[in-house]
Amino acid sequence: MKSLAIISSLAPLASALCYRDPSLHARSEFTPPSFGYTGLQGPLNWHGLSADNIACAEGTHQSPISIDTSAGNIPVVKGERLSLELDSYFFGTEVENLGTTVEVPANGTLNRDGKAYNLVQFHFHTSSEHRIDDETYAMEAHFVFRAEDQSLSVVGILIDVSSHGPTSRFFTNALSNVHDIPHAGDIGETGPLFSGEIEDLVSGSDVFQYNGSLTTPPCSEGVAWNVVRDPVYVSAKTYRAAKSVLRFNSRYTQNAPGEINLLQNAVETIGAANDE
Ligand SMILES: *[C@@H]1O[C@H](CO)[C@@H](O)[C@H](O)[C@H]1NC(C)=O
Ligand SMILES: *[C@@H]1O[C@H](CO)[C@@H](O)[C@H](O)[C@H]1NC(C)=O
Ligand SMILES: [Zn+2]
Repeated sequence: MKSLAIISSLAPLASALCYRDPSLHARSEFTPPSFGYTGLQGPLNWHGLSADNIACAEGTHQSPISIDTSAGNIPVVKGERLSLELDSYFFGTEVENLGTTVEVPANGTLNRDGKAYNLVQFHFHTSSEHRIDDETYAMEAHFVFRAEDQSLSVVGILIDVSSHGPTSRFFTNALSNVHDIPHAGDIGETGPLFSGEIEDLVSGSDVFQYNGSLTTPPCSEGVAWNVVRDPVYVSAKTYRAAKSVLRFNSRYTQNAPGEINLLQNAVETIGAANDE
């Protein structure tokens, strides 16, 4: 009864939010993205856009990676160990086009190796950034968590397209109004987000864990990655709506953790070839 009372007291607020015109709510302080995914703005030149991005070219624990399940170098844990909990948003919540992704600020908690993290936001990539045994997926969602010491842990969920069979209500609703926010700085509303689906997915799946980096500049390392093995599905309609707004925003897979950065390797091998 108590929760019903809370829900009905929120109803007027929710209906007001439903009529928000995203174009009227574009943030005046919005700063355009400082990087992109094509040409000299793209991942092969992120280090050239700012001296702060040097880890993109020289880091040896960079993300994303292609996870080789037979190699055994990426530990697998049961997802229930993460104790993932997300808040639900019964009337939807804000979603913003950042120019490089579409992001939903949200709350939740995660526990990894005894360390507590709080959710900051989740966002999307097309196509997936991680690959499993070199298989790519249509999209990937990243749930970004931060600990009190400011270190980050990210839960990556692979999303594929299904022409029949069950689709993810959570991601379908997260993206249901994505066509309303086509431009960088646009802010809109998601549909209702029920967190149980994501909590159940993660707790019932194997999860690959490795120490990697941000997949966007400045490519900072020390990010504790959790890539959920079981994918979820959205309809072709949802995928195409998301793709038309997100465009291509996926960094190429990096060398295996601990191995030389592929850009550093290119510098050395091109230099050696020129010396011959
Ligand atoms: C997350 O929680 C904080 C603190 O309670 C609150 O101020 C904020 O509005 C919440 N964010 C969302 C998206 O609900
Ligand atoms: C990640 O790094 C931390 C600290 O360096 C270490 O304790 C942990 O075992 C590493 N985890 C993985 C999965 O490599
Ligand atoms: Zn991401």
